[in-house]
Order: sequence, then structure tokens, then C-alpha cells
Amino acid sequence: MEKEKLILPFLLLSLLMYSNGTTFSISRDYEILLQVKNTQIDDQNKSLKDWLPNTQHNPCNWTGITCDSRNKSVVTIDLTEFGIYGDFPSGFCHIPTLQNLSLGTNFLGNVLSSHSILPCSNLRFLNLSDNLFVGTLPEFPSEIFELRTLDLSLNNFTGDIPVSFGRFPLLKVLILSGNLFTGAIPPFLSNLSELTRFELAYTETMKPSPLPSEIGNLTKLEFLYLSKINLIGNIPDTIFSLISIKNFDLSQNSLSGKIPETISSLKTIQKIELFDNNLSGEIPKGLKNLTSLFLLDLSQNALTGNFPEQIASMNLSVLNLNDNFLSGEVPQILASNQNLQHLNLYNNSFSGKLPQDLGKNSALIEIDVSTNNFIGELPKFLCQRKTLQRLITFRNRFSGPLHDEYSECDSLKYVRIENNELSGSVSPSFWNLPNVYFLKMEHNKFQGSISSSISKAKGITKLLLAGNRFTGQFPNEVCELIRLVEIDIGNNRFTGEVPTCITGLKKLQKLKMQENMFIGEIPGNVTSWTELTELNLSHNRFTGSIPRELGNLPDLIYLDLAVNYLTGKIPVELTNLTLNQFNVSDNKLYGEVPSGFNHQVYLSGLMGNPGLCSPVMKTLPRCSNHKPFSIVAIIVLTFSVVLLFVCILWFLKRKSGTLVGKSKRAFMTTAFQRVGFNEEDIVPFLTNENLIGRGSSGQVYKVKVKTGQIVAVKKLWGGGKNKQDTESAFKSEIETLGRIRHANIVKLLFCCSGDDFRILVYEYMENGSLGDVLHEEKFGGVLMDWSKRFGIALGASQGLAYLHHDCVPAIVHRDVKSNNILLDHDFVPCLADFGIAKTLMREGTECAMSRVAGSYGYIAPEYAYTLKVTEKSDVYSFGVVLMELITGKRPNDSSFGENKDIVKWVTETALSSSHGDCITWTKIVDPRLNLDTCHYEDVEKVLNVALLCTSAFPISRPSMRRVVELLKDHKLARPKS
Ligand SMILES: *[C@@H]1O[C@H](CO)[C@@H](O)[C@H](O)[C@H]1NC(C)=O
Ligand SMILES: *[C@@H]1O[C@H](CO)[C@@H](O)[C@H](O)[C@H]1NC(C)=O
Ligand SMILES: *[C@@H]1O[C@H](CO)[C@@H](O)[C@H](O)[C@H]1NC(C)=O
Repeated sequence: MEKEKLILPFLLLSLLMYSNGTTFSISRDYEILLQVKNTQIDDQNKSLKDWLPNTQHNPCNWTGITCDSRNKSVVTIDLTEFGIYGDFPSGFCHIPTLQNLSLGTNFLGNVLSSHSILPCSNLRFLNLSDNLFVGTLPEFPSEIFELRTLDLSLNNFTGDIPVSFGRFPLLKVLILSGNLFTGAIPPFLSNLSELTRFELAYTETMKPSPLPSEIGNLTKLEFLYLSKINLIGNIPDTIFSLISIKNFDLSQNSLSGKIPETISSLKTIQKIELFDNNLSGEIPKGLKNLTSLFLLDLSQNALTGNFPEQIASMNLSVLNLNDNFLSGEVPQILASNQNLQHLNLYNNSFSGKLPQDLGKNSALIEIDVSTNNFIGELPKFLCQRKTLQRLITFRNRFSGPLHDEYSECDSLKYVRIENNELSGSVSPSFWNLPNVYFLKMEHNKFQGSISSSISKAKGITKLLLAGNRFTGQFPNEVCELIRLVEIDIGNNRFTGEVPTCITGLKKLQKLKMQENMFIGEIPGNVTSWTELTELNLSHNRFTGSIPRELGNLPDLIYLDLAVNYLTGKIPVELTNLTLNQFNVSDNKLYGEVPSGFNHQVYLSGLMGNPGLCSPVMKTLPRCSNHKPFSIVAIIVLTFSVVLLFVCILWFLKRKSGTLVGKSKRAFMTTAFQRVGFNEEDIVPFLTNENLIGRGSSGQVYKVKVKTGQIVAVKKLWGGGKNKQDTESAFKSEIETLGRIRHANIVKLLFCCSGDDFRILVYEYMENGSLGDVLHEEKFGGVLMDWSKRFGIALGASQGLAYLHHDCVPAIVHRDVKSNNILLDHDFVPCLADFGIAKTLMREGTECAMSRVAGSYGYIAPEYAYTLKVTEKSDVYSFGVVLMELITGKRPNDSSFGENKDIVKWVTETALSSSHGDCITWTKIVDPRLNLDTCHYEDVEKVLNVALLCTSAFPISRPSMRRVVELLKDHKLARPKS
């Protein structure tokens, strides 16, 4: 009777119409359901399309509805995964007979209020898991006391767990995982005396605090899941009173101290998961009393001592002790375990032999004992039951053969036995295991040949056999293994020819065959190797010439053919490649070095070929001149003479100080084009009032010279202590710039070096730097509409692509950023400031580059660990500039939040959106662009290029040439408007 008051007023009408006995309650439920559907639920996916008026006024066969056995009233509403939107549909609770309300995995959201759940006083089962609820979790009114199951997991509830949650007298299951609670686990939950399952995991926002000792009061608890919730301190001794517990999971917290001995009294326990904590001390010996236990995971702690014999004698199915400080031998008795399936002991200091009967008595699936000090043979019976999938023993001192028994292990998928002392030949039937996809046997003492039966190992992707003593031919059958991505058979004793069919392996990325005794020619038909990045055939006995087709491999960056008997010329096609490693030294190559390789950085890769000659490189012999004295030669010669003259002048000037020049100051000037001024027209104007900015290596002035031309003058910081530094910056900049002609690279007109200063004179860029225009208040970024920004992106990419791909050797800018992109009066962008540009050097010759390269916010992540700057680092920085253009924000804008830069922020925001998600777009795109709401296709394409460029791995970033293509594509794809 009381409840009737809560029913929505519209029901009064139906009450009058259907007040005839038994059909009354069902027709009332029918009205309620229709009303809720129409007013409280946004059924965008039409999941409730059969909730339609019917003549019987009966909802019992609508989807999601279950009635009681006599179809007199609704008892269950289950709309799990119906794709419905809206607030909590409290109207359902007006059905007084409703017991079970399941609304999991939908798009319901907003705040849940005490008021809205008040009508649900008869519910026994409430599931709101995996929705979009936010805000603090409300107190549940005391009327709600029938609940048996409450699942609120995977929402964004915040704050503390409400006190009323300690008051459900009948609650058995409480699931709160995956929210954003900020309090600690409240002790009052121990009042839930009927609780059998408590889950509060993956809530890293929780306040670091210990597990309350009251937990022991939950004597009916069977399932405790408290992973990753910032637990600290010791595991309370009171856990001994969890007398019904089966699953005990406190993993991934910061628990410390010893594992309490009282754990041994939990007779009912089946799984103990304490991995990834800071637990120390020894493993409790009493665990052996836990006869129901089948999973024990104590990995990633700081446990010490030996492998307790008692645990080895248990019948565990999963035993993970990896990543601890355990030592001593593994007890023999472990092998008599009949249930053992997963054994992970890696990263400890275990020694001695493994129990030789391991695998004999149980169906092992996985054994990982890598990185210990084990010796002796691998146990013969590991795959006795034909279930072993992962065999991982690397970094130990195992010796002896790979047992024939393994050859029948068809279940094997993943094998890592590298870095041991295993020996003997490998049986033909081991090579043909059909399910192996990863085979790493490197650095052992294996011998014999690879059987042709390897053709049956169809799934293999990596075949890594380097550093053994394998002999014989490399079998043709390898060509049938079309999934191969990497072959490394370096440093063995293979002989014969390399099967030419190997060029048909389309997925191959790395082929390493160095340090063998291969003969014959290098296969030339390589058009299928579209993904090959690395080819190392060095230290073999290859003959014939270098196939010119190698120059067409789109991704090749590492080419080593050194120490062979290769003859002929170096194919000029190889200069198409952008190589990090190029080595053809110690062969019998002859002829002129292609001009692309005519640079000092390639020299060591060319040495040891007595027949090679070069017109430029001094260390190589001159090419004998059959042609008449060419014009080029004359120019080169003239240039050299002039250069020599200049050098002598420079030298004399430095010695005498006043030899050259009429004035008291001594100047060394170089004009790169016809200019109508000299240093005297410039130096007097380098005053504070003409100062317009500071570059990374100097001050910049704006000067109007007598011809009326306006130029930008950069005066390098200089003189005194830093002389050495500025000297090299100066030289690197003029050397680099003097050679370059490109519309998108700033033109150096003139340079001049005095005793205590150095100046560089550039054409003046009216609109300053992109950084200023975008970010400085005074310029007001509003001036830059999207088409201007796009033009800048494209132009700058072309300039950079020119440096990377058209200069030989390639030039890495090293400091790409918006402040180094200057804009002329038409907003045509020009790259500037090569202060720290350096021609691309190869490994080993880089010692000169000690300074940190690049500017904060633009530096590619790999720089942190490799300290190497490549073209791909420029690509990364360019991606950052693209993001600046799109967002209008600086790379380190404080609005991104702590530890986030523009790349992280844009990436996360972009990835969290679905295609064309308007809200996300509004967040990313610079509001000053005033773009038509949600018409961001243009921007989206540029954003996609930016995301590619800022990929964490250099290899995944496109080349600059590709970036230009992608951006141009964009232009074509734009609708004409
Ligand atoms: C169930 O639905 C069908 C049509 O979909 C209808 O013919 C039938 O009468 C309904 N049964 C009940 C008990 O309402
Ligand atoms: C929930 O929180 C996460 C993490 O803070 C956030 O990414 C997500 O957008 C939030 N969802 C809602 C609906 O508030
Ligand atoms: C609950 O646990 C606390 C601390 O362990 C204990 O003092 C208290 O007596 C227990 N309460 C009940 C009802 O068992």
C-alpha cells in the first residue's frame, strides 16, 4: 500500500482501467515499462524495439523482461549490453515485485543519487557495472536491505565508500573494482557478515593504507580480490580467520614485511596471489598444509632463502616464484607433482641441476627458468605429456644436447634456449615442429646442419641461430616459411650458396648471414623484400657484383657486404637508399665511387677495395681521366684555388691581426650571392634598438642596408671563453647553408667574421617565426587561418625533405621547432638556424656531438637512451610542429597536466575519440581557427600525419619525403570550395 504512493501519477489512470483482479499487477508493470522506455531511456540502438503496446497489456515476452512463473508480475529486468543511454532509470523500481535489475555495460551515467535509488527497496540484485556513472557514491537509504548482490564496478565513482555499505544485512557479493575512489578500505565493511565475494581492485586512486585487520571478521568470504589499490604495510595476521577463503588476491600493491605464517591455516584456500609487492623474508613453510591450493604466485617480491622443500612437494598447478632473490637448488621432489602446468622461476639465483624428472608426472605447459645459475642437462621429459608450449631457459649454463624427446613436442610454440652451453646436433624432427613461431637458440654450441624438414615449421616468424657451429647448406626449404620476419644465422659455419628463393620471403625484415662461408652470388631479384630493413652478408665468400636492385629496397637502412670477394662497380642505385650503415669494405670492387657516397662519412665502408677511385676523397686513389678536362673539373679546380687563397688570407689575418682590410678591424667575409653591401654597412647597426630576437646561438638584428634591402643579421654569442664553441657553430652553419638552395630554407646572403664577433646575414623574414605568430599575444594567432597553417606545414616539410633526401650526405637539422620556421611576407615558411645542424654521421664518428641536440618539447624520445640524432628525430620534431599548428598550443603548455607534453596529450585525446567525434575535435583544434563546428576532415588528415611522425619508435615514423606526399595527398583530397 505504501508503495502505491510512489508510483507515477499517470498510473492512477491505468489503476482505474485495470483494477480487475489478477491482470492488475501485470498491466501496471506493462505501463511502467513503457513509461520508463519513453521518458527515462535513450534507446539509440533500438534494442527495446519490441517493447510495444499490445492488446493484452502484457510485457512478459519483451526482450530483457522475465516474469514470475505465472506471468503475473515482472521480477527481472536484464538490459545488459543493450547500448542504452540516460540517467539511472529509477522508474523500473516502481515495479514492486522487481528483484533483479541488471543494467551492466551500457552508456548510463551522470550522478547517482540516494533519491533515485530509494524506490529500489525490493531489489536483491543490482548491477550497474561498466557504465558512465560519476561523482561520489551516494549513501544507500536504509530501506534498501534486501540486496544480495551489488555490482558497481567499472564506473567513475569517486570519494569514499559510503558508511551505509556496512549495513546490508544480507549482502553476499560486493563488487566495486575499477572506480576512482580516493579513500581507504573502510573497516566497517567487515560488518557484512554474509559476504562471500568482495572485489575492489584496479583503483589506483585509493589512499595508500593497510588492509584493515577487521578483514578477518568476514568468515564467509570465499573470494577476495584487492589487486592494485595501493595497499601498504603488512598483511594482517587476522587473515587466519578467513575460514572459507578460496581466492586470495592482494597482488600489485606495496605490501611489505613477511608473508604471515597464519596463511597456513586457510585450509580451504585454492589460489594465493601476492605477486608484485615488496614482501620479504622466507616463504612460509606451513604452506604445505594447504592441500586445496593449486595456484601460488609469489613472483616480483623480495623473497629470500631457498626453495622450501615443503612447497616443492605440494600438488600445485601454477607455481610462480620469478623475480625474487631465491637461491639454492630446486628440490627433486617438485618433479613428482602430478598437477604442475606452469612453472616460472626466472630471475632468481637458483643453481644446480633442474629435477631431471620434471614433466614426467604432470602435463607441463610452460617452464621458464631463465636467468638463473642452472647447470647440467635440460630435463628429458619436459614434453612427455605433449602439452609443453613454452620452453624458456635462456641465460643459464645448461649443457648437453637438445634431447630427441623434444622432437615430438608438437605443442611447442615458443622456444628460447639462447645463451647456454648446449651442444650436439639438432635432430631433423626438431626443426619441423609445426606450431613453433619463435625459435631462439643463439649462442650455444650446436652443430650439424639444419634439416630440410624445417619446411614443415610453417608458423615460424623468427629463426635465430647465431653464434653456434652449424654447418652445411642453408636449406632451400626455408623459402617455404612465408611468415618469417627475421633470420639470424650469423657467426656459424654454413657453406654453399644462399638459396635464391629466399628473396621471395615477403615479410622478411632482417636477414643476417654474416660470418659464415657462403659462396656464390648475392641474389638480385629482390622486389618482394618490401619490408627488409637490414641485410648483413659480411664476412663470407660471396662473389660477383653487388645487385643494383638492392638500391630499390624501400625500407633498407642497414647494408653490410664487407669482407667478401665482390667485384664490379658500386651500383649508383644504392645512393637511393637512406642508410644508417653502409659497408662494402674489403672486397674487390673497382671503378669510381658513385657521387652519393663521395663523402668522408662513407669512407671507412669503402676501404679495402684497391680498385675503387674517387675524384674527391683524398684517401682513395684518383680516377684516371680518360675524358678531356671537363668543365666541372675546371670549376672544382678554380674553387679549390680560391678556397686555398681564402684560407691563406684567413691564416695570415689570424697571425697578424691587421693584414687584411683597410679599417682597424679585421674581417673575413664571404658573400654567397651578389649583394650590394659589405660589413661596414652592417656592423654599426647592430644596436639594441635593432635587436629583434635571440636564436639558440646568437642575437638577431634587423638592419636596413644602403640599397634599401632589409636583412636579418645574426651575431653569434662570442669571443672570450666560448670562442671554440661559436667557431664551430659558425663554421657548421656557413658550411651547411652555403651549399643549399631551396625555397623553404632561409637564404644566407653574406657572412663575416671579425676578431671578436661573427655575423651571418640572411634575407629578412617579415612575419617573424612561426612560434611567435602562433603563441605570442602581440601577434594574435587569429591572423593564421587554416589554409595558411597548412601552407606552412607543407612548405616546412618540403624544406626538411630537401635536407634529408636531396643533400649528400643527408643533413639532419637537429633543432626543428616553430621558432626556427620563419615566415616571409606571404607566410612562406623557411627553415632556419642550423646552429647545431650536422651532417649525418655514422656510428663511431659522432664523438664531436657532445651537446644536447634540440629543444625541450621537440626532442624525440629515443634521444634519451641512444643520444643519437637521426633524420627520424627531425621527423618527430616536425610532428610536434604539426601539432602546434593544429592546437595552437606550445609543446609544453601547462594545460596538458603534469608529465604530459603536446604529443602525449594529443595522442591520448585523439585515440580516445571515435571517428568524427565532435567533442574530442573541439578539444584538440585551436579555437582561434573558428572552424565550422565538426568539419575537421582537413585537420584530421594533418593530425594523422602528426601522430605518425611522433610515433615512439623511429622505425614507425615516415620519411620526410613520405610526409610531403601525405600532406600533398591531403591537399588533393580537400573538397573544392
Ligand atoms: C508473445 O509475443 C507474440 C508475438 O511476438 C504474441 O503473439 C504472443 O501473444 C505473446 N505472448 C504473450 C504471453 O504475451
Ligand atoms: C572516467 O575516468 C577516466 C580516467 O580518469 C577518464 O578517462 C574517463 O573519461 C572518465 N569517464 C567519464 C564518463 O567520466
Ligand atoms: C572484528 O575484528 C576486530 C579486529 O580484528 C575484533 O576486535 C572484533 O571483535 C571483530 N568483531 C566481530 C563481530 O567479530
